[in-house]
Amino acid sequence: MPTVGMIWAQTPGRVIGRDGAMPWHVPEDLAYFKTVTQGAPVIMGRKTWESLPERFRPLPGRVNVVVTRDTSKTLPLAEGGALTASSLEDALSLAGEHTYDSPAVWIMGGGAIYSEAVEKGLAEIAAVTQIDLDVDGDTFAPQLDPQEWTLVSAMPEQGWETSQSGTRYRFETYRRMRPAPHAPA
Ligand SMILES: NC(=O)c1ccc[n+]([C@@H]2O[C@H](COP(=O)([O-])OP(=O)(O)OC[C@H]3O[C@@H](n4cnc5c(N)ncnc54)[C@H](OP(=O)(O)O)[C@@H]3O)[C@@H](O)[C@H]2O)c1
Repeated sequence: MPTVGMIWAQTPGRVIGRDGAMPWHVPEDLAYFKTVTQGAPVIMGRKTWESLPERFRPLPGRVNVVVTRDTSKTLPLAEGGALTASSLEDALSLAGEHTYDSPAVWIMGGGAIYSEAVEKGLAEIAAVTQIDLDVDGDTFAPQLDPQEWTLVSAMPEQGWETSQSGTRYRFETYRRMRPAPHAPA
């Protein structure tokens, strides 16, 4: 079974989105996202798919799996180059059939999907970019319970990098050390 990871960027207030987009510009984080997910299947909610500029979707070099409950969206999503699933569990199964040589599949948002993955204990890794900005948002990352999730690496180890845009950021990786309370036995 491939490792299931989640990848997101958040502010200290855990904001990940506003009005269907990320309310910051940190190109180094987009490059990091590309490096981490390249070659692996990516799973996203329908709204995150729609937040991607049309010219960038499906994300190249990755099988794109989109989760929707709306069967009327299956055909347009397929025409747009995505595989679709009607639940997160089905999306993980489908992604698992398309890993090729990749050791991981990546859940790439948005808020609804991350929350479900954390609540159900479906992921083992969280790659979290900390964005040092105080901004309002309407979509939030889930809280990673420190009893369950441990910081295993950070770049830089101390402090921040500064983006070419001037915003400070830092890449953190967390690993889930014990089952989530609501995970199936
Ligand atoms: N900062 C970051 O790293 C990051 C990463 C990704 C996204 N974002 C931001 O997050 C925002 C989008 O997140 P969001 O929470 O609003 O939406 P989302 O999670 O991307 O998509 C929600 C949609 O996914 C489908 N869905 C969710 N759970 C499902 C389930 N269990 N089974 C079947 N379908 C399911 C539903 O689609 P239907 O309505 O079609 O049924 C639902 O409306 C945007 O602002 C985006 O920019 C930020």
